[in-house]
Amino acid sequence: MLVPALQILRKARAGHYAVPALNVNNLEFLKAVVAAAVKMRSPIIVQTTEGAIEYAGMEYLVAMAKVAAKAPIPMALHLDHGKDLKTIKKAIQSGYTSVMFDGSSLPYKENVAKTKQVVAWARAKKVSVEAEIGAIAGIEDFVTVKDKDAHLTNPEQAAQFSKETGCDTLAVAIGTAHGAYKFKGEAHLDIERLKKIAKLMPKPIVLHGASGVLEDVVELAKHHGAKLGEVRGVLDADIKQAIKFGVSKINIDTDLRLAFTAGMREALDELPTVIDPRKLLEPSNILIREVAQRKMLLFKSEGKA
Ligand code: G3H
Ligand code: 13P
Ligand code: ZN
Repeated sequence: MLVPALQILRKARAGHYAVPALNVNNLEFLKAVVAAAVKMRSPIIVQTTEGAIEYAGMEYLVAMAKVAAKAPIPMALHLDHGKDLKTIKKAIQSGYTSVMFDGSSLPYKENVAKTKQVVAWARAKKVSVEAEIGAIAGIEDFVTVKDKDAHLTNPEQAAQFSKETGCDTLAVAIGTAHGAYKFKGEAHLDIERLKKIAKLMPKPIVLHGASGVLEDVVELAKHHGAKLGEVRGVLDADIKQAIKFGVSKINIDTDLRLAFTAGMREALDELPTVIDPRKLLEPSNILIREVAQRKMLLFKSEGKA
């Protein structure tokens, strides 16, 4: 059964571990991440963006997630980076057990008002709400300290925002960025800022842009012809610190994309006579499972189902 994300995340916060929130776009990703969670006995949040919904269709995604949730682990279906209120409302009515309203690019007051609206819709259906305050872009993107301070999450404002909106969990900006090119200089997160946020705001904290851009996966992809250039992800040591100081939900998309496409490249390269797509997708499935399992070990969610 699908459960509200908050149910899983409260336990994680109390138990000092984090739940992997893994982005899926199709059946292949979904089956692989759920198989990983079952193997590791880990709770899991399966999440889809508005882009994934556009690609696969909300009904397909919900139906597949409901089947996947028959697995013997706690699982939530979450709308990631919801920006369109109509889509958010539809997700709440269609069986998502958690939604994000991403108002991070809006003026503060508008972010508060829209988040409150989403919270009101969600309450009636016992759906969890993730909100966001601050801009999720790499620390190295900011030229001056003042610039950085203006973009990363302000701890006092985060506490105020969480009280005003009644959101269940909060995504914060502490230096991560989406994608495979997160840092221009040294990879590091603003852990001091996170500590302050966690002290003032007791709800589960969400870390976006948390992919590690795993070296071996990148190497495999490059070996089979991928042109990836200077990729750089979040260090495992930073992830451990983030969990220690209050992060309970960690979003991973890029690492799964890299795994899937590395597997595809490998299959096409090494099995040039095979035309059965199911066989060609096997290496991708194995790699996604492996990457998801590594995250469960790193986040210490193994055995917590
Ligand atoms: O933040 C989430 C993603 O990494 C971007 O996903 O291409 O499905 O919008 P998308
Ligand atoms: P990555 O691009 O680091 O995987 O981040 C994914 C994410 O934050 C999805 O919301
Ligand atoms: Zn994100």
